[in-house]
Amino acid sequence: MIIAIASDHGGFALKNTVKDHLMERGMKIVDLGTYSDASVDYPVYGRACGEAVASGEADLGVVVCGTGIGISIAANKVKGVRCGLCTSVEMARLTKQHNNANVLALGGRTTTPDLAVEIVDAWLDTEFEGGRHQRRVDMLDEM
Ligand code: RB5
Repeated sequence: MIIAIASDHGGFALKNTVKDHLMERGMKIVDLGTYSDASVDYPVYGRACGEAVASGEADLGVVVCGTGIGISIAANKVKGVRCGLCTSVEMARLTKQHNNANVLALGGRTTTPDLAVEIVDAWLDTEFEGGRHQRRVDMLDEM
């Protein structure tokens, strides 16, 4: 599986933690930056990750900024992206089961590295439920 990953400076450290974990899980990573903790603009990185997923370059994406909020808004502007910002393992499971989220957003200043790794694993290891949720996901994708 190919996973695109991107962050701004506020998510840079957590991006590296998540990237290392994903590589340990055998995932192929497309790292779209940022590559230091110098200040950058999160819309650039959310968009880049969203476009990598929407185009099929990557199967899934992970975006990280300080809170996860700004970069998730940016990713969700890309048609075909369903980005869920998760701060708990339960949210990670539900955003796959119900929203079939193809991009996961995390907050580098709000979520600890240990919890972030648990969230990533829960999101990756949970299946979309389909059924009534498929209709709603289709509605999202038509917007
Ligand atoms: C950058 O300072 C910060 O605004 C950004 O990382 C993010 O939290 C925005 O939503």
